[in-house]
Amino acid sequence: MSITKEYEWLAMKKVSEAVALTLREMVAHARPGMSTKVLDTYGGEIMRDLGARSAPHLTYRFPGHTCISVNHAFAHGIPSEKVILQEGDLVNIDVSAELDGFWSDNGSSFVLGEDVNGHQPLVDASKAILRKAIDAVKGGVQIADVGHVMETEAKKRGYRVIKDLTGHGIGRSLHEAPEAIANYRDRTNRARFKKNSVVAIETFIATESSYTKTLADGWTLVGSRGGFMAQHEHTLMVTQGAPEVFTIDNGIWS
Ligand code: CO
Ligand code: CO
Repeated sequence: MSITKEYEWLAMKKVSEAVALTLREMVAHARPGMSTKVLDTYGGEIMRDLGARSAPHLTYRFPGHTCISVNHAFAHGIPSEKVILQEGDLVNIDVSAELDGFWSDNGSSFVLGEDVNGHQPLVDASKAILRKAIDAVKGGVQIADVGHVMETEAKKRGYRVIKDLTGHGIGRSLHEAPEAIANYRDRTNRARFKKNSVVAIETFIATESSYTKTLADGWTLVGSRGGFMAQHEHTLMVTQGAPEVFTIDNGIWS
C-alpha cells in the first residue's frame, strides 16, 4: 500500500508495534526444553491482547499463530508439541498480523542459548545484510539493485541467498505489490521502490542451498541442498531518505 493519510500511517505503526513486540517477547521467552507449540501459544496470547490477528492463519489457514522453524527447517515451520527446543538451535520466528484492516510482518533468526553449533556468524551476517539492504531502499531505487546489495554482501561473507523466497509489499493485505523483493539482482524485475509505499524487506541467507523445497506436511520449507538459513525481516515505509522502519521495536538490531 501507499500511505497518503495520517490515519494509515498511525494504523501501520500500531499493527507493526504489535508484531514487533510479539516477536521480541517470543525470542526472550524461548528456552531449551520448550516445545515450539508452547512458544507459539505464548505469542498468540500476546497478539490477542494487543488486538491483532495472526496473518498466516487468516490468509492461508496456517496451523499456528506464528511460524517457528528450527535448524534445517528454513521457514513456515508449524508449531508442534513434538519439536522441543535445544541449546544451540538455530531458531526462526516469523510474526505477521492484521489489526484494524492493516497488516505487518517481521521475523528473526537467533541462536538459542550457548552457540554450541556455531550458527552465530550466519545470524550476524543476516542482520548486517538486512541493515545494508534497508539503507539502500529509497524512492526511485530499483528493487533489483537492493537485491544485488544483499547477494553481494552474502557472498562477501561466504554465504548464499535463497532465490525462491522474497520480501514483498504489505499494508492492506499480507502480500501485495511489489510482489517480489528478491535477495539477488533479478534482471526481469524493472520495478522501483515508490515513496510512501510500505514493504517488508527480508533476508534469506544460507549456507548450502539457493532454493527451497516443501516437506510432506505441506508447509515446512527446507533447503533443496540442505544446510541452514537465517532470516531477518522488517516492515517499513519508503521515503526519499532513510526508510521509516515500523517494526524497529522487535529488537533484532539492538
Ligand atoms: Co514474515
Ligand atoms: Co514477509
